[in-house]
Amino acid sequence: MGAPIDQARDRALLSELAEPAAALFERHLGATKQWYPFEDVPWAHATEFSRDEWDEGAYPLSDGVRSALLVNLLTEDNLPYYTNALLKWAPKDHPLRDWSGRWTAEEWRHSAAMRDWILATKALNPWELEDARMVQMTTGIVPEAPTIAETIAYVSLQELATQVAHRNTGQALDRTLRGKKIMSQIAGDEGLHHAFYRDLAAAAIERDPSYMVVAIYRQLRGFRMPGTGIPSFAAHERIIAEAGIFDASQYLHQVVLPTLAAWRLDELEGLTDEAQRARVKISRTVSALARIARATEPSPV
Ligand SMILES: [Fe+2]
Ligand SMILES: [Fe+2]
Repeated sequence: MGAPIDQARDRALLSELAEPAAALFERHLGATKQWYPFEDVPWAHATEFSRDEWDEGAYPLSDGVRSALLVNLLTEDNLPYYTNALLKWAPKDHPLRDWSGRWTAEEWRHSAAMRDWILATKALNPWELEDARMVQMTTGIVPEAPTIAETIAYVSLQELATQVAHRNTGQALDRTLRGKKIMSQIAGDEGLHHAFYRDLAAAAIERDPSYMVVAIYRQLRGFRMPGTGIPSFAAHERIIAEAGIFDASQYLHQVVLPTLAAWRLDELEGLTDEAQRARVKISRTVSALARIARATEPSPV
C-alpha cells in the first residue's frame, strides 16, 4: 500500500465531487439547526477566579469525565488547523469551499460553548486548561491526509468518533447545570458533519471505487483521534477509555462498523488487484480491532 500518490487521479476525483458536495451542503443546510453557544451556560453560577480558589470540589467529577472534557475542548480549540487542512482541497470555485466555511463556523461554537460552560461551572482547572491549549495550538499537530480521497475517509470516521465522545461525556454530566444539553447539541452537529463526509465518500466510491478502497484502508489502519498534540494525550485516552466514555469497543461498534456498512465495500465489483487486497486488509483491520475491543472490555461479573 506504499504506492506513490496519483495527484492527477486525486484532482480528477476532487472535480467530480463538486456536484455531490453541493447537493450534500444543501442537504446539510436543510437539516442543521441554529443554536447559540451561550444560552445554556449557567452564568449565574459563575464566580471570579483566584489562583488558590479552584479545587476539585468546586464541581466534583471523576477523572475520566475531567479528562474527556479537557480532550474534547482542546480538540475543538485546534480548529484553525483543521480548517487549513480542509481548505487545501477546496479551490475557490469548488462547493467544498462553501461547505468548509459553514463547517468552520459550526465547529467554533463547540469550543465557545464548552469553554464558557467549563469556566462558569469550574469543572476544570482553568490555568491547566489554558496552559495545555497554548502547547497544543502552538504545536498545531493535526492528522493530515495526503490526498482528498484519504481526507474524506479520515474525517468520516473522525466526526463520528467525536460525536460518540461528546455524547458520552454529556451523559456523565448532570442536568442541573446543563452540561448534558450543551454536549448533546455539539454531538448533534458532529453527527451532521459525519453524514456530510460519509456520503461524500460514498459519492467518491461510486466515481472511483478502487482508489477510494485503498484510501479507506490507509486511513483505517492508522486512525488516531485529532487530539494527538494535547499534552499527555495517551494518558488521557487511557483514562477516558477506562471511564467508558470512548474506548476500543465503542470505536469499533459505533464508529468503524456503521461507517463501513454505509459504504458497502463488499458489494463493489471490478476492483483492481491493489484495491481487492486493500479490501481484504480492511476486513483484517476490523478483526484486529475486534480482538483489541474484546481484550479491553471489562469481564462480566
Ligand atoms: Fe466539533
Ligand atoms: Fe465536526
